[in-house]
Amino acid sequence: MSDRLIIFDTTLRDGEQSPGAAMTKDEKIRIARQLERLGVDVIEAGFAAASPGDADAIKAIAGVIKNSTVCSLARANERDVRAAGEAVKPAASGRIHTFIATSPIHMEKKLRMQPDQVVEAAVKAVKMALEYTDNVEFSAEDAVRSEMDFLCRVFEAVIQAGAKTLNVPDTVGYSIPALWGERIRQLIERVPNSDKVVWSTHCHNDLGMAVANSLAAVMNGARQVECTINGLGERAGNASLEEIVMAVKTRRDVFGCDSRIDTTQIVPTSRLVSQITGYPVQPNKAIVGANAFSHESGIHQDGVLKHRETYEIMRAEDVGWSHNKLTLGKLSGRNAFRTRLQELGIVLESEEALNAAFARFKELADKKREIFDEDLQALVANESGLDACDRFKLVSLKVCSETGETPHAFVVLSDGGGEIRADEFGGGPVDASFRAIEKRVESGSTLLLYSVNNITTGTDAQGEVTVRLARNGRIVNGQGADTDIVIASAKAYLNALNKLFGAEERAHPQV
Ligand code: KIV
Ligand code: ZN
Repeated sequence: MSDRLIIFDTTLRDGEQSPGAAMTKDEKIRIARQLERLGVDVIEAGFAAASPGDADAIKAIAGVIKNSTVCSLARANERDVRAAGEAVKPAASGRIHTFIATSPIHMEKKLRMQPDQVVEAAVKAVKMALEYTDNVEFSAEDAVRSEMDFLCRVFEAVIQAGAKTLNVPDTVGYSIPALWGERIRQLIERVPNSDKVVWSTHCHNDLGMAVANSLAAVMNGARQVECTINGLGERAGNASLEEIVMAVKTRRDVFGCDSRIDTTQIVPTSRLVSQITGYPVQPNKAIVGANAFSHESGIHQDGVLKHRETYEIMRAEDVGWSHNKLTLGKLSGRNAFRTRLQELGIVLESEEALNAAFARFKELADKKREIFDEDLQALVANESGLDACDRFKLVSLKVCSETGETPHAFVVLSDGGGEIRADEFGGGPVDASFRAIEKRVESGSTLLLYSVNNITTGTDAQGEVTVRLARNGRIVNGQGADTDIVIASAKAYLNALNKLFGAEERAHPQV
């Protein structure tokens, strides 16, 4: 059995199916570049048939990524497979991932298809995908609730049709490690020619066992794991990439395989995904949580100081923790700025974008003595001028807030070139600012979430704000960062409005 574990990242597809985690094309490209730097083998860049915008984003990613395979999801039908095939065409290495549900409940209630029709559709989709690339993956959706004999029949048929990777998903997060490992073992044992393909697993976290189930699959012969950064994904999410990678690396003695992931890129990737999607990482999250390597109790601190391995099984620096690394200051020039961005893997597409980002850096350096890597990442994420679809931009904001007085906000926005002004009172400075913006923009959206986090430490740190808005069933997240959290809030609100107004109709692959 191979000792290479293939890491298939689906942050940009299954991860993006998390409520409000929809990303713009530019954001997806930034994440894809970081995933390439991380050393992910396969990047599932999206579901091409969802919308022209999704297909376009996959195509753009396929055009820039050179060291990872770029993949598109496709339901087992002609329209989807052709859309996926076209989208991954520019890739140096492209893959089509086609799927169909195989459980009685999905076949009967969702697909309204007979088992024979499902086998036929699966085989047809695989053969059609082979017209575009010889790298075709097939998934049996809801494999966890599928009958074993039927699952074997479908997998045998798609191997014969030419699929190279067979994925076994626990779509609803129902399994437990012992059963999931056994299912994978039996499939590999029973399906003819199973040694000609790579067996893969894709586990959801509804019972909190996505990582444990994925690892049980690896112990029983799976050599590809589908996972996401920070465990992002539908409902309770997918198996978390960082936990799987570090588990197989730290316990190679148990798993007998390893990935080609550059683990020092794990924390920067986690931060980027969190920043772009607005999904914070809980402090006690394994590997990437802020407390993952901190020791509070005196006994532990004492032990670690005497000998690190008394309480640490991994080194923080090996997963990319280089906390609050001072990088640039007020006197740093444009070249130093550009170089540091490059070192952080941030590529600005044009000189104009670099100049705009540098101007913002200078502004920030005036307000904040020390600029850390995290500040630079937020600053570039916040460079909303880079996104051509941005309609609203914050020109200025003034808020009067005083004990005993009702806060009053005065806002000036640019709306696709023209300027609009408004003022409004509110329960607090943030509320007044949002009300002032809403007074003129009239989005009619509902605020679902408002959160503020400090990017680094200190009272002069930038506040990073996430705003989640909903309108007509569509949910978007907006982010903004600034040393002034009221301004950061207004930026986040406008960022969310831009996404709300720019969003197009998209199909969901599993509905
Ligand atoms: O959870 C699932 O079954 C999926 C498939 C499309 C692979 O995401
Ligand atoms: Zn899934």
